[in-house]
Amino acid sequence: MELTHIEHLGIAVKSIEANLPYYEKVLGLKCYNIEVVADQKVRTAFFKVGQTKIELLEPTSEDSTIAKFIEKKGEGVHHIAFAVPDVQAALDEAAELGVNLIDKAPRKGAEGLEIAFLHPKSTGSVLTELCMEGKDK
Ligand code: CO
Repeated sequence: MELTHIEHLGIAVKSIEANLPYYEKVLGLKCYNIEVVADQKVRTAFFKVGQTKIELLEPTSEDSTIAKFIEKKGEGVHHIAFAVPDVQAALDEAAELGVNLIDKAPRKGAEGLEIAFLHPKSTGSVLTELCMEGKDK
Protein backbone atom coordinates (compact mmCIF):
# COMPACT_ATOMS: atom_id res chain seq x y z
CA MET A 1 0.00 0.00 0.00
CA GLU A 2 0.96 3.60 -0.32
CA LEU A 3 1.62 5.45 2.95
CA THR A 4 2.14 9.19 2.74
CA HIS A 5 3.17 9.94 6.34
CA ILE A 6 2.56 9.12 9.98
CA GLU A 7 -0.73 10.93 10.55
CA HIS A 8 -0.75 10.48 14.31
CA LEU A 9 0.31 8.45 17.29
CA GLY A 10 -2.48 7.43 19.63
CA ILE A 11 -1.58 7.46 23.30
CA ALA A 12 -3.88 6.01 25.95
CA VAL A 13 -4.21 8.13 29.09
CA LYS A 14 -6.47 7.99 32.13
CA SER A 15 -6.89 11.74 32.06
CA ILE A 16 -6.23 14.27 29.29
CA GLU A 17 -6.10 17.11 31.79
CA ALA A 18 -3.45 15.37 33.89
CA ASN A 19 -1.23 15.10 30.81
CA LEU A 20 -1.71 18.59 29.36
CA PRO A 21 1.13 20.16 31.39
CA TYR A 22 3.65 17.70 29.94
CA TYR A 23 2.61 18.20 26.33
CA GLU A 24 2.05 21.96 26.60
CA LYS A 25 4.59 23.19 29.14
CA VAL A 26 7.40 20.69 28.72
CA LEU A 27 7.13 19.83 25.01
CA GLY A 28 5.74 23.24 24.08
CA LEU A 29 2.91 21.86 21.95
CA LYS A 30 -0.53 23.40 21.78
CA CYS A 31 -3.68 21.34 22.26
CA TYR A 32 -5.80 22.59 19.36
CA ASN A 33 -8.80 20.28 19.67
CA ILE A 34 -10.54 18.19 22.29
CA GLU A 35 -13.34 16.04 20.99
CA VAL A 36 -15.53 13.15 22.18
CA VAL A 37 -15.86 10.23 19.76
CA ALA A 38 -19.03 8.72 21.17
CA ASP A 39 -19.06 5.40 19.32
CA GLN A 40 -15.48 4.69 20.41
CA LYS A 41 -16.19 5.81 23.98
CA VAL A 42 -13.17 8.10 24.06
CA ARG A 43 -12.32 11.73 24.50
CA THR A 44 -9.43 12.80 22.31
CA ALA A 45 -6.97 15.69 22.52
CA PHE A 46 -4.79 16.69 19.58
CA PHE A 47 -1.37 18.30 19.27
CA LYS A 48 0.58 18.93 16.08
CA VAL A 49 4.24 18.09 15.64
CA GLY A 50 5.03 19.11 12.08
CA GLN A 51 2.82 17.04 9.83
CA THR A 52 2.18 14.46 12.52
CA LYS A 53 -0.24 14.66 15.41
CA ILE A 54 -0.27 13.26 18.89
CA GLU A 55 -3.73 12.00 19.83
CA LEU A 56 -4.37 11.47 23.53
CA LEU A 57 -7.17 8.97 24.12
CA GLU A 58 -9.07 9.07 27.39
CA PRO A 59 -11.80 6.48 28.04
CA THR A 60 -15.28 7.89 28.66
CA SER A 61 -16.62 4.59 29.97
CA GLU A 62 -15.30 1.49 31.68
CA ASP A 63 -16.15 -0.74 28.72
CA SER A 64 -14.23 1.47 26.29
CA THR A 65 -11.42 -0.37 24.48
CA ILE A 66 -9.07 2.30 25.81
CA ALA A 67 -10.13 1.57 29.40
CA LYS A 68 -9.42 -2.11 28.78
CA PHE A 69 -6.07 -1.33 27.19
CA ILE A 70 -5.01 0.77 30.20
CA GLU A 71 -6.19 -1.93 32.57
CA LYS A 72 -4.10 -4.55 30.77
CA LYS A 73 -1.00 -2.64 29.72
CA GLY A 74 -1.11 0.65 31.53
CA GLU A 75 -1.03 4.10 29.95
CA GLY A 76 1.17 4.58 26.90
CA VAL A 77 1.39 4.30 23.14
CA HIS A 78 -1.78 2.64 21.86
CA HIS A 79 -1.58 2.82 18.07
CA ILE A 80 0.21 4.27 15.08
CA ALA A 81 -1.82 5.83 12.29
CA PHE A 82 -0.59 6.07 8.73
CA ALA A 83 -2.14 8.38 6.17
CA VAL A 84 -3.09 6.71 2.92
CA PRO A 85 -4.77 8.19 -0.16
CA ASP A 86 -7.60 5.63 -0.07
CA VAL A 87 -8.42 3.64 3.08
CA GLN A 88 -10.68 1.11 1.35
CA ALA A 89 -8.09 0.37 -1.32
CA ALA A 90 -5.41 -0.08 1.34
CA LEU A 91 -7.68 -2.43 3.32
CA ASP A 92 -8.45 -4.51 0.26
CA GLU A 93 -4.76 -4.75 -0.52
CA ALA A 94 -3.93 -5.77 3.06
CA ALA A 95 -6.71 -8.39 3.09
CA GLU A 96 -5.37 -9.85 -0.13
CA LEU A 97 -1.98 -10.22 1.55
CA GLY A 98 -3.61 -12.17 4.36
CA VAL A 99 -3.62 -9.37 6.94
CA ASN A 100 -6.21 -9.68 9.69
CA LEU A 101 -8.50 -6.63 9.61
CA ILE A 102 -10.40 -5.14 12.53
CA ASP A 103 -12.40 -2.99 10.10
CA LYS A 104 -13.32 -4.30 6.67
CA ALA A 105 -14.53 -0.85 5.66
CA PRO A 106 -13.53 2.64 6.82
CA ARG A 107 -15.52 4.30 9.61
CA LYS A 108 -15.59 7.81 11.03
CA GLY A 109 -12.89 8.78 13.50
CA ALA A 110 -12.02 11.99 15.31
CA GLU A 111 -11.45 15.12 13.21
CA GLY A 112 -13.71 13.81 10.43
CA LEU A 113 -11.09 11.31 9.32
CA GLU A 114 -12.03 8.03 7.71
CA ILE A 115 -10.22 5.37 9.66
CA ALA A 116 -9.75 1.60 9.79
CA PHE A 117 -7.63 -0.65 11.97
CA LEU A 118 -5.45 -3.62 11.11
CA HIS A 119 -5.30 -6.37 13.71
CA PRO A 120 -2.16 -6.44 15.89
CA LYS A 121 -1.92 -10.17 15.20
CA SER A 122 -0.80 -9.27 11.70
CA THR A 123 1.26 -6.18 12.48
CA GLY A 124 3.91 -7.32 14.94
CA SER A 125 1.59 -6.46 17.85
CA VAL A 126 1.40 -2.78 16.93
CA LEU A 127 -2.22 -1.70 16.56
CA THR A 128 -2.18 0.04 13.19
CA GLU A 129 -4.66 2.57 11.87
CA LEU A 130 -5.01 3.69 8.28
CA CYS A 131 -6.67 7.03 7.74
CA MET A 132 -7.48 9.77 5.29
CA GLU A 133 -9.33 13.05 5.35
CA GLY A 134 -13.09 12.53 5.09
CA LYS A 135 -14.82 13.33 1.82
CA ASP A 136 -16.85 16.07 3.48
CA LYS A 137 -13.69 17.99 4.38
CO1 CO B 1 -6.09 7.16 15.90
